[in-house]
Amino acid sequence: MRHKLYGQSIIWSQDFDKDLLDELFVRADHYKKHPRNHCLRNKRVIMFFYEPSTRTRFSFEAAVKDLGGSCQSTDHAGEFSSVAKGESLEDSIRTVSAYGDAIVLRHFEDDAAMRARDFLQSLDIWKPIFNAGCGKGQHPTQSVLDLYTIRLLLGRLENLTIVIVGDHKHSRVVRSLVYLLGKYSGIRIRLVSPLELFIGYDMLAYMRRHNVEFTETTRLEDVIESADIVYMVRAQKERFEDPAAYERLKHSYRLTSDLALRMRPHARIMHPLPKVDEIDENIYRLPLAKWFEQSDNGVPIRKALLEMVLGE
Ligand code: NCD
Repeated sequence: MRHKLYGQSIIWSQDFDKDLLDELFVRADHYKKHPRNHCLRNKRVIMFFYEPSTRTRFSFEAAVKDLGGSCQSTDHAGEFSSVAKGESLEDSIRTVSAYGDAIVLRHFEDDAAMRARDFLQSLDIWKPIFNAGCGKGQHPTQSVLDLYTIRLLLGRLENLTIVIVGDHKHSRVVRSLVYLLGKYSGIRIRLVSPLELFIGYDMLAYMRRHNVEFTETTRLEDVIESADIVYMVRAQKERFEDPAAYERLKHSYRLTSDLALRMRPHARIMHPLPKVDEIDENIYRLPLAKWFEQSDNGVPIRKALLEMVLGE
């Protein structure tokens, strides 16, 4: 039987509610134990990436193939379409939409996934778009796997203190994560970033509207002891308008072993990856380092999503 998400695009974190997330987590648990089936048999998914990707693209591809579907992929969409020859996103999306049953889209513009979906629908083409990270807008499938990982690590998603460290201004991962965390009760968000990289006003408004308890600070050492999760992100080099500002701010935070020792015993460190140098190498092999488990969870979570959106 088709799921109610069948044929729907996944554009923002706001496309999920708690019931749907619970359902996804149960299916992802299932896929950890039973990684293969045929629910995407005869389905082809186009991976249309205008920006580099390791985890998102490979985990989507692995997920499609384990479910019996096939993929067509490019990591260089920008080189043969809009950037190189002047083709619009809309024309490229219309073209590739004929070659598959769904499109997984990564793009450098914040609203690209929404525009792609709306353009196809305006042509009466109802093929789902998965936002695989657009500009500094959102990256919803990442934040679903982030929540799934937190739940596996700590056994719950309520009453937690999440310390998010780094470039909040440019990180689509942080935006999508904050939207999802805001759905759970007793969540305390501690945003740690340089003043210049504080999170946008729209996110502050969202947290206030939903009564999410949050604070902003520039000092990691002030909040690290309260963390259940320390979530690190890199400075998003490619999104800085001023390269000198990136150079000035890129080393703002480094999670050293001294700092990590101040974390509570059950607390864990996550990172969406890629990491640059914001985490000390001594920490990599400690049990609190959970970023690879996090990226591993991309496969079962994306299977669960693909099954709901495309599965027969
Ligand atoms: C993130 C992204 O692309 O936004 N990577 C990912 O998908 N895991 C994070 C980043 O690039 O910093």
